[in-house]
Amino acid sequence: MSGYSEKNQIFIPPAELEKQVKFTSLVHTMLASRYPDSPKAFVHTYGCQGNVSDSEKIKGQLKKMGYSFVDSPEDADLVLFNTCAVREHAEDRVFGNVGALKPIKEKKKDMLIVLCGCMMQQKHIADRIKRSYPYVNLVFGTFAIHRLPEMLYTVLSRGKRVFEIEENAGTIAEGLPTERDRGAKAWLPIMYGCNNFCSYCIVPYVRGRERSRLPEDILAEARELVASGAKDITLLGQNVNSYGKNPDCGVNFASLIRQINDIEGDFVIRFMTSHPKDCTYELLDAMAECKKVARHLHLPVQSGNNRVLAEMNRKYTREQYLDLIAYAKKRMPDLSLTSDIIVGFPGETYEEFLDTVSLIKEVGYTSLFTFIYSKREGTKAASMPDPVSYKEKSKWFKELCDAQEEIAARRTASMVGKTYRVLVEPNDREGWLTGRTSGNISIDFEGDAALIGQFAEIEVTEAKTWILYGKKK
Ligand code: 5AD
Ligand code: SF4
Repeated sequence: MSGYSEKNQIFIPPAELEKQVKFTSLVHTMLASRYPDSPKAFVHTYGCQGNVSDSEKIKGQLKKMGYSFVDSPEDADLVLFNTCAVREHAEDRVFGNVGALKPIKEKKKDMLIVLCGCMMQQKHIADRIKRSYPYVNLVFGTFAIHRLPEMLYTVLSRGKRVFEIEENAGTIAEGLPTERDRGAKAWLPIMYGCNNFCSYCIVPYVRGRERSRLPEDILAEARELVASGAKDITLLGQNVNSYGKNPDCGVNFASLIRQINDIEGDFVIRFMTSHPKDCTYELLDAMAECKKVARHLHLPVQSGNNRVLAEMNRKYTREQYLDLIAYAKKRMPDLSLTSDIIVGFPGETYEEFLDTVSLIKEVGYTSLFTFIYSKREGTKAASMPDPVSYKEKSKWFKELCDAQEEIAARRTASMVGKTYRVLVEPNDREGWLTGRTSGNISIDFEGDAALIGQFAEIEVTEAKTWILYGKKK
């Protein structure tokens, strides 16, 4: 889009945001007369942390309009699903859950049903909702979040269904209210969108072009988070390593984490996701030198075979990836590595898949997010021949998971007897807590709930494949 890279076209103008503040108070007044006890909203988020972070902004705006939050759709006056399009399974779940709202809405005619997020940004999905789910009141895509007050106003005042699926390269709305409920942990988006067009992936089509927040906005938010008690801040973006290119702000990701590391206070800095093609020695050096940066690198490899990587349009080879890993381990011997893997990409053979198994053994990941390839309409891979059956791919998938289980078991066993500094989190088990290490590994231990949100020293006493047990020092 011409002129898109100019700063003023990426950032939503203050006048537009002020207009939304006016709609917020109009909706607030309307709702106050309809619901004397304050209206209730149920917000459910599917998919990645980017969506979770968006939902914090959606909830922040809903709260300003007068909503309080409930844990079940039955108790809600407004139900909102923030959806994910990355795999077919996620989309099927959304359709199932929207279907389940129908009988609730039949009993409660005034209830509003709102669908938003990546799945809605696809025309064929929005059309299907329009046709087959007439009880859905509002549908909007990923580019319209900051206009939620105006869209709700239209629904409430005119009683009409609203569909807002604008096509757009993507913008940034600064200063939206944010409702955070993760205790001492916080998400901090630093960039949006993706320019990489990995051939299997829908994200660049539904989230628009890569665009970065300004460093001063990010630093101000990081300082506010630390001042309000955040102890674990995760910087978010589809490809954080290419932070700062658009608009060109003269600060790259390595220098951004150095600046956040310089903020006074006792807190941990995490980030995701990193793309190997943009992960530089400079970044690994910055990680190694910044004491507050967690010893965890999530560096999705997707496949260990060079032909498959090229077909995926990943723009690195197995050898380049392993070179990065070797350098990262040299600089940070205690580094915990995790990855995403796709099994059964179109045309992948069993021999090619075995290259992925050998790669995961060579790297020794702490854990993996593994996925069977899912065809996404509109992507390049969707038109590639895909002769291997789902049943066969499932067997390969199990083989990969078994290999990873052995690696993880060895790793957790090696932690027994060692002491780790962890941030304490709640645990579902009565009397128990969980601590998250710098490497993002959980340790369960018995302790007082007053420790939640604090750092503690925990000695690992026992290891099972996926769970570690410990005691407080
Ligand atoms: N099929 C399966 N997995 C996918 N991912 C992205 N697109 C697809 C797809 N079409 C996985 C990738 C990515 C993670 C977030 O989801 O591994 O890193
Ligand atoms: Fe999808 Fe690739 Fe962008 Fe990640 S880097 S969001 S896998 S296109």
